[in-house]
Amino acid sequence: MDCIYFDNAATSWPKPEAMINAMTAFNAHVGANPGRSGHRLSIEASRIIFNARETVASLLGADDPHTVIFTRNATEGLNTVVRGLLRPGDHVITSSVEHNSVMRPLRAMESEGVELSVVPCSGAGGISLDDIAAAIRKNTKMIIITHASNVIGTIIPIADIAEIARKRGVIVCVDAAQTAGSIPIDVLQDNIDILVFTGHKALNGPQGTGGFYIRKGLEKQVNPLERGGTGSGSEFEEQPDFMPDRFESGTPNTIGIAGLGAGAGYVAAMGIEAIREKEIALTRLFLEGIRSIRGVRVYGHTDPTRRTALVSFTINGTSPSDISFDLDERFNIMSRPGLHCAPSAHRTIGTFPDGTVRFSFGIFTTEEEIMTAIKAIETLSCENHK
Ligand code: ALA
Repeated sequence: MDCIYFDNAATSWPKPEAMINAMTAFNAHVGANPGRSGHRLSIEASRIIFNARETVASLLGADDPHTVIFTRNATEGLNTVVRGLLRPGDHVITSSVEHNSVMRPLRAMESEGVELSVVPCSGAGGISLDDIAAAIRKNTKMIIITHASNVIGTIIPIADIAEIARKRGVIVCVDAAQTAGSIPIDVLQDNIDILVFTGHKALNGPQGTGGFYIRKGLEKQVNPLERGGTGSGSEFEEQPDFMPDRFESGTPNTIGIAGLGAGAGYVAAMGIEAIREKEIALTRLFLEGIRSIRGVRVYGHTDPTRRTALVSFTINGTSPSDISFDLDERFNIMSRPGLHCAPSAHRTIGTFPDGTVRFSFGIFTTEEEIMTAIKAIETLSCENHK
């Protein structure tokens, strides 16, 4: 399909050919269950998973691939951390711009006796470090926070937050669904205890892949979400406590992980710094282009170096879903309107309940596409302000 795809924050597309080839090759030539049977195809399947683990670990700055766990998606990673770590009586801190994949598990834990503080962000999506420090109590177990909101894009200073948390003996968990693969991350240098990622966005893997990094030793404090066969320690009926088997039960999504490994490899070959530079340039071009269009309101930080490659906007007097529909039908531009599964983020920027239209760019976005989109928004806005 020939279209302008500006929905990379929902899932990146198109995917690199290497990712598609890796998935096809797994099904055509390997196909076996990893870590189970010991024959050469099974060993090859295990090797594919290990290579993917190594590639993702290295992109995140983790020195041991076994500290990276694969899950179905970021949501499963976040649920594992929230449900596995928090106990009744614990206190947890989060921000007001979180996705429901953080908020819903936290609200569920609240009803089970966990105390929750939501630190408000500014209208531009920034957060005050003093407010975070002030929210810490004696029983604070964890700060769980997005690296960048999927609605606003403003980058949260996770290293500074981790520094505050480390001094106070609090665990930090970062939701990097919007940043892993597009913004440099170094979990060891930045003292991040847990970092949850998705595979199908900037890491260029397929849908149904994701995972989390967890600091060595900390896994003992986190109960697995599921238990089952791992192909290891089969003589025992208890779940192995070593990594990654502690958290990875059942036949994995090997074909997906094969694609994730290849997608992450593509990112590594391009270089995250280079990707970041390209995406900043695209975001700057778009922000400059729509700034002066009458009736258009843009949300988030004005400086493209302080945000991810997504832009939420509204056109006065038109509902975001109508704009998004028109962009698709008349201009062949794919966007995501509404609340983006993050109602609290929209309350923070004052766009609840209608939401915004969100454009999200990716490694295959071109300047020409951005210019076409600016003209389309200009047309829609003029029609509305005749
Ligand atoms: N969380 C994804 C988004 O922001 C699906 O669109």
